[in-house]
Amino acid sequence: MAIERVVNTGANDNTPEEQELEVTLRPQDFANYIGQERIKQNLKLAITAAKKRGEPIDHVLLHGPPGLGKTTLASVIANEMGAQIRITSGPAIDRAGDLASLLTNLQDGDILFIDEIHRLNRSVEEVLYSAMEDFKLDIMLGKGPSAKSLRLDLPQFTIIGATTRTGSLAAPLRDRFGMIHRLEFYQTEEIARIIKRAAQILGVKISEDAALQLAGRARLTPRIANRLLKRVRDYADVNGDGIIDAVISTSALALLEVDELGLDPADRRMLEAIIDSYNGGPVGVETIAALLAEERGTIEDFHEPYLMQIGLLERTPRGRKVTPKAYKHLQKRKHTPDDQSSLV
Ligand code: ADE
Repeated sequence: MAIERVVNTGANDNTPEEQELEVTLRPQDFANYIGQERIKQNLKLAITAAKKRGEPIDHVLLHGPPGLGKTTLASVIANEMGAQIRITSGPAIDRAGDLASLLTNLQDGDILFIDEIHRLNRSVEEVLYSAMEDFKLDIMLGKGPSAKSLRLDLPQFTIIGATTRTGSLAAPLRDRFGMIHRLEFYQTEEIARIIKRAAQILGVKISEDAALQLAGRARLTPRIANRLLKRVRDYADVNGDGIIDAVISTSALALLEVDELGLDPADRRMLEAIIDSYNGGPVGVETIAALLAEERGTIEDFHEPYLMQIGLLERTPRGRKVTPKAYKHLQKRKHTPDDQSSLV
């Protein structure tokens, strides 16, 4: 079994409670990992082939919106390989020396998981190139004319990189990954299975219709599904007999302000701001960020992918635009030139 050693989780935005919950609920192998079928097939093939040759698997880059299971998949890969995994993140590796010490402490077959790999700084990234390609570590000793370069052999390791943005990954780094997979949003039915599995692990009784209702509001994202399940379980423990049925989940979701499409107040504020202040757009993401006092990265990484996935928002060359479906969902009416009011 893989030993999961957290070197430094860096800028993981989960609360400690969520991280602990994710670890307990995290599937350990492909048999228990629900969804992402095509990626699983590809990875299983690569793992079987690598094991047959007695080699580590090629470096893997996983990208896609947050919460879809990039870290989970990395630990499944390690487990299936029978390898040890070390977990770190781009922002946690400050200097080339930090990376050098991480790499020289690896053993043959180890997996180094680098979350938010797009946030590695350039000097660190450059050390990674030869490490990934030739398992060599190039280090400079000293500065100026007396500087010497030293080349050290590294163990045969695998890097699994994760990023919410492939776009911001430098091409030379991207090219050094033998496998690049984009994690897609899950199907609602898969999320329902993930919720039922998590409920079983947590020892919570949940009815079929409540599981489906939660699944419909979890933004097609396992991390959110597990988070909702936990909050609804609290509600059931306090206001009922601990069993989650549709009545309990409906009231709990209303209290959490999660609507029928899984939008939270921040999503609704964003769509309403575009409608009310920019007549539905197009409007630049910087303007939206300023209007909502929100970070551009949060809008781009968290809010937009789901809103686009369910067809409430569009990206155009001139900025973001809400769709007729968003107007309908928010019960808003488009403002026309001969019309004084934009509200219904
Ligand atoms: N928990 C979080 N993600 C999961 C997945 N893909 N399958 C099963 N359980 C999960």
